[in-house]
Amino acid sequence: MTALDTTLLAYDGLTVTLPSMARPILDGIELSVRAGEIVALVGESGSGKSVTARAALGLFPPGAEVGGRVRVDGTDLVGADPASLRDVRTNKAAMIYQDPRAAINPVRRVGDFLTEPLRLVHGWSKAQADARAVELLGAVGLPDPARHLNQYPHELSGGMLQRVVIAAALTAEPRLLLCDEPTTALDVSTQAEILAILGRLRRERGLGLLLITHDIELAAAVSDRIYVMYAGRIVETAPVADLFASPRHPYTAGLLGSSPPLDGPAGRLTPIPGAPMGLLESAPGCAFAPRCRFAEPGRCDQSPPPLRRQGPAEVACHRAAELVGSIQPSREDS
Ligand SMILES: Nc1ncnc2c1ncn2[C@@H]1O[C@H](COP(=O)(O)OP(=O)(O)O)[C@@H](O)[C@H]1O
Ligand SMILES: [Mg+2]
Repeated sequence: MTALDTTLLAYDGLTVTLPSMARPILDGIELSVRAGEIVALVGESGSGKSVTARAALGLFPPGAEVGGRVRVDGTDLVGADPASLRDVRTNKAAMIYQDPRAAINPVRRVGDFLTEPLRLVHGWSKAQADARAVELLGAVGLPDPARHLNQYPHELSGGMLQRVVIAAALTAEPRLLLCDEPTTALDVSTQAEILAILGRLRRERGLGLLLITHDIELAAAVSDRIYVMYAGRIVETAPVADLFASPRHPYTAGLLGSSPPLDGPAGRLTPIPGAPMGLLESAPGCAFAPRCRFAEPGRCDQSPPPLRRQGPAEVACHRAAELVGSIQPSREDS
């Protein structure tokens, strides 16, 4: 087996239900990330992206009933014993969050943040850990890394701090990075730098990345494949170029039509009408039907559409086959 066909992360029918809610938070998630691959998970706020990411570390909402599997490097996190959980969390996968300042203790030096796990968990000497910290800060493009070891978080910009967090995520050499809105708190040029670093880590270290974002344009710019999530389900997945050229789910087209491009003029943006379905609502049919301009009464509102292969994509839409070619992002480039 080559590195490229090694599956690092595999969701297999993952379902997460809180008994007090009208619908599951996650419903039958199927998703995979291989080594050397950047896979994006996109969807509006509240669709279940963060719950999906945290499941890969065995973190589920308190009181939730969990069905299906989520495997990291072969270890199933659903019902995992404490030793397996610890192994995945310390050695196999690392999470990068939106706000680097929330991830770092503000009163400790940057160097301590990087070296403490190496010294306390992995038993390294101070000299060894310092050397590794300098190397990692260099790997994420921080100039003069040795100087930054003695600085406090407030002395660094948000973009520099996010690099420190990424460096920290690499300390144990995990093969899987879970990035939950890693650039949402950053300005546009810093965002581009962080994305370039993630791309380089994938290329040079063969990491697999799950990139979570509400921004489908950003996802398209850096990832190989995209999964689109709506109300706790995957509604479409395809290689980026295919998904961009011909979205097959009306929701995907809606996201494309309502997102300003990363570069160039925005043109006319068309917001998706209505609001996403909350956890206190449920529907017997397609959850997107109430907002969908293609919805057919008596059909789309009867049963949830399963995810079915269609060309290079998989799509969960009752009308997908007959709508091929007629779904376009409703954006006119000016
Ligand atoms: N610990 C929790 N307890 C109860 N509800 C939760 C919990 N975590 C997330 N949720 C709910 O699950 C849904 C999906 O949340 P989340 O995964 O954070 O969405 P996203 O990251 O796509 O914005 C939301 O409705 C959210 O309120
Ligand atoms: Mg989130």
